[in-house]
Amino acid sequence: MYNLEVDFSNSMVEESKILEYKKVVSDIHKTLSKNSNKNDEFLGWLTLPTDYDKEEFSRIKSAAEKIKSNSEIFIVIGIGGSYLGAKAIIDALTDSFYNLKDEGTPKILYAGNNLSPRYLIDLIDYIGDKDFSVNVISKSGTTTEPAIAFRIFKEMIEKKYGKEEAKNRIFVTTDKVRGALKTLADQAGYETFVIPDNIGGRYSVLTAVGLLPISVAGINIDKLMKGALTAQKRFDNDNLESNPCYKYAVVRNILYKEDKNIEILADYEPKLHYFAEWWKQLYGESEGKDLKGIFPSDASLTTDLHSMGQYIQEGRRNLIETVLNVVNAEKNFEIKEDKENLDGLNYLVGKSLDYINKKAMEGTIIAHVEGGVPNILINIKNLDEESIGELVYFFELACAMSGMLLGVNPFNQPGVEKYKTNMFKLLDKPGY
Ligand code: PA5
Repeated sequence: MYNLEVDFSNSMVEESKILEYKKVVSDIHKTLSKNSNKNDEFLGWLTLPTDYDKEEFSRIKSAAEKIKSNSEIFIVIGIGGSYLGAKAIIDALTDSFYNLKDEGTPKILYAGNNLSPRYLIDLIDYIGDKDFSVNVISKSGTTTEPAIAFRIFKEMIEKKYGKEEAKNRIFVTTDKVRGALKTLADQAGYETFVIPDNIGGRYSVLTAVGLLPISVAGINIDKLMKGALTAQKRFDNDNLESNPCYKYAVVRNILYKEDKNIEILADYEPKLHYFAEWWKQLYGESEGKDLKGIFPSDASLTTDLHSMGQYIQEGRRNLIETVLNVVNAEKNFEIKEDKENLDGLNYLVGKSLDYINKKAMEGTIIAHVEGGVPNILINIKNLDEESIGELVYFFELACAMSGMLLGVNPFNQPGVEKYKTNMFKLLDKPGY
């Protein structure tokens, strides 16, 4: 059995309808494979699990060791695809209260993903006199939010440690040659990591963009890449009957044509909340263009059954629910007997909390399907590096297929520029 299996039995889409997509899926698959090496096609992530830069990979591990040895806090500066993947994987694979405990690795905090002065001042206050390092991540090297945050933290580091020691505490992940950040890093002598030309931000979590912060958090990046490699080998074929990755893309496309234009990624594990945030960016930025696209949204369950449950059950019938289920709970406990049973819970005695959580999931799926919400169930075996590596690759490849089935370019994001132009005009930026 693979770490990842997908159950389409409640998708409300017949197999025969899926198989009508055989030819178009095969054509897109061939196009993806054929163009995977072309620089301007943004398909570098396709073969990353085999082709990743091994020299840089070992530099990432060494940098992570240095950061672990000299820092209590590690600040990840980036926005969108330049931080969501790292946060998604770190949250999924570390303790639920990682930053509140002493885990022997630096606390991971984030900056440059908003423009709130309160957030930055609170973060600086929290750092106080603790030792820290920063990783600024920006492919363009010019994004305003991380650039402002980096200016502030660079100054703080230089003031506290001096310019020489700053070289041991500032790590820059950016384009190989282009951009203001690259120029600045080269001049100051900071260690740099590369975001390959042919990998866009939201497909970059398995490059240094994600791998350095993930490694600093003590997560095994070899195993993560191994999981992604398993997925690369498994899904690199156009056999729609047996390839759940392409099937997921096709089922979404069929449902979209039936006016299901909102997909909820639901999980029953709070540690996966940011995984859904990463997924939302991946699908939202890849497909939401040319007036098309499924709107990606998320639900943390059972929490949101008490806020969004009513809508999902009985609101407008334009929803798809994709459930992320972790099959094995690595931590679990049993409900014990209470002689008085005043809370009436003794019927649960001997049952584990994970078992109860699973029954909540099964009951909810039945209810939502009966309420007219097609369901896709993605089972991952464990919440571990290999399963998450497989899942990341699964969603990336499915997203490319899904976008191409929709007839959009899943690798650009022209709409993101619109707010920037207005903001720059309002800020009197030269040239706007
Ligand atoms: O997926 C994308 O390309 C975007 O979300 C970018 O990651 C985001 O806009 C940040 O850009 P940059 O890394 O250039 O600062």
